[in-house]
Amino acid sequence: MSTEAKPATTGTKALTVPDIVARKGKTPIVCLTAYSTPQAESVDAHCDLVLVGDSVAMVVHGLPSTVGATLDMMIMHGAAVRRGLKQALMVVDMPFGSYEESPAQAFRNCARVMAETGCAAVKIEGGQRMRETIAFLTERGIPVMAHVGLTPQSVNVFGGFRLQGKSDDAARVEADAAAVAEAGAFSVVLEKIPAALATRITRQTPIPTIGIGASPDCDGQILVIDDILGTFTGFRPKFVKRYAELGTATTDAVAAYAAEVRARTFPGPEHVFHDKDATK
Ligand code: KIV
Repeated sequence: MSTEAKPATTGTKALTVPDIVARKGKTPIVCLTAYSTPQAESVDAHCDLVLVGDSVAMVVHGLPSTVGATLDMMIMHGAAVRRGLKQALMVVDMPFGSYEESPAQAFRNCARVMAETGCAAVKIEGGQRMRETIAFLTERGIPVMAHVGLTPQSVNVFGGFRLQGKSDDAARVEADAAAVAEAGAFSVVLEKIPAALATRITRQTPIPTIGIGASPDCDGQILVIDDILGTFTGFRPKFVKRYAELGTATTDAVAAYAAEVRARTFPGPEHVFHDKDATK
């Protein structure tokens, strides 16, 4: 019997961290964010990994960056997503300020997130500076997905959501990716870096790379679900591809409803009750 992990769409068994690791260099790992039970139900059969991203702060809560995400926010959305998943591996993003202080702080908060959401792993931002923390967590039973390149929680240091790892900065991002793999991360997100650099890192590192604004050569890809559905319209990075325009569809549906209420054409005869109706 083959031991090669299968893509999410071919099986119903819940995927594990070792299943994702086993996909290094094989079929692309399909990842997407989700923040609610219905979203989780929609993505589950098609994705290998679902991330409850701290992007929830921007796309659901209307905040200007992910810096405003809180532990309570991540736990509430994480628990909702858990209820909608049967097979995809669930990872929860650790919010800004919940893990950077010390390995002990990180362990305490990651353990709480895992216990209260039922996620299989956590994601933390940062490369070389998070080496000790990643080792501390993985040695104590917490699988870590790392995130290097553009790390949005550092937006105030970068001065915007800028491309990272350009020419003389490439070595820093390469060293970050090497450090997190060495520390025990099971995978690494590469965000908004030049494609050639992402390809090089993917070839060099023994763990799966998950690209967002990186390269098709990465071991997997991730995007924010509201970006692919067109329900987040605040701004649109170059790396986003829209697969639907549900934002526009929603506005059109609401406008049609409002017009019908004003014209008294809704509710129609089929939407109201009469004495003879069975209760439905
Ligand atoms: O918060 C998020 O959604 C993310 C990714 C898209 C990688 O970190």
